Amino acid sequence: MPPRNHKKWLATPKIEYISSECYNNYEIYEQEIEHIFAKVWVPMCHKSEMANKGDFRSSQIAFQNVVAVNHGDNIKVYLCPQIDRLTGNGISVDGLTELHSGVQHGGMVWVTLDPNPTQSIDEWTCGAFDCIAEAIDTEEMEVFHYHKSIIDTNYKLWHDTNSEFYHDFMHYHNRVTGFNDAYFARKNIPFDNGHVNVSSFTVQYEEYEGFEDRGELSFPNLPPNQWYMVDLFPGFNFNLRGSAYRSDSVTPLGPNKVLIEFRGYGLKKDTPEERATRIEHHNSIWGPFGRNLHEDLIGVAGQGTTMREGTEARRILHGRHEGGTIHDEVGMRHYYAEWGKHLGVSPENPLGHAVEDDMVVAAE
Ligand SMILES: [Fe+2]
Repeated sequence: MPPRNHKKWLATPKIEYISSECYNNYEIYEQEIEHIFAKVWVPMCHKSEMANKGDFRSSQIAFQNVVAVNHGDNIKVYLCPQIDRLTGNGISVDGLTELHSGVQHGGMVWVTLDPNPTQSIDEWTCGAFDCIAEAIDTEEMEVFHYHKSIIDTNYKLWHDTNSEFYHDFMHYHNRVTGFNDAYFARKNIPFDNGHVNVSSFTVQYEEYEGFEDRGELSFPNLPPNQWYMVDLFPGFNFNLRGSAYRSDSVTPLGPNKVLIEFRGYGLKKDTPEERATRIEHHNSIWGPFGRNLHEDLIGVAGQGTTMREGTEARRILHGRHEGGTIHDEVGMRHYYAEWGKHLGVSPENPLGHAVEDDMVVAAE
């Protein structure tokens, strides 16, 4: 095979790809805020974080301050330009603009900045939660863990790490507890609006030294030791590992900076002993000092470094076709088709460079 010199490295492959310029251009970032984050339904928090009448939870979406307020018989979300209103006990919502919102999919508080949303929450999520609905909607859930990370990387690289699974080779835990025939048969299933979910298999926790079977505390209607994931466009992930549930929410802070909020959930009815076990199960995989989460964070920080603004554009290949199974890149292709539609650009060439025909050669 001839050496892959600089010209070959930059050549256009004959398989699916996107440009690294999707990840590091400031104008694209601004377009994403305006045309994606200011339009879509965002799962901003969980109702258990504001359990009592008068409780509130603030956040920021597309540079707008928003606040979710528990009014006792319902939860409403408002634009809240003056953040100092949130200090002290409770909040007066007089004069605040109410946003479209709702509580769905396991008690998440959803809101959109769009004053005239064309889709309801259900129409937006369009079936992506069906695979875990009976597990997360049968019993009330409760947030037991919250932490956030600010990472020098593009928000889409975090969503990518939840969407492509070939990086599982990086995770020692997943190599040991998975990677059997059932793991490789898991399916990536695309849904409208850019969403994907990943079907389950039985995780062999006892294969990992010091870990044990997690079947006893499985969520309702869930066989023991299952692992489902829901990847919701444009950057929200819901991850059910049998006895514990996790959600990730991204807030882009720049082309190469993202705030990620991580929440862990148990069941409201848990006994203190059950809750302690769920927390241990959650933290052993997903806590800041757990087995997997920091590996993902190191991975996306490295990707962010290599693709930061000013680096030479290169192609990110999405060419794996494996019948929609776990390492197939169908989820990546599905996401970026939707992303390009929202921005009115081609992810292969988001800045619209002139393409030279002689650069088009087959990938080797
Ligand atoms: Fe990972």
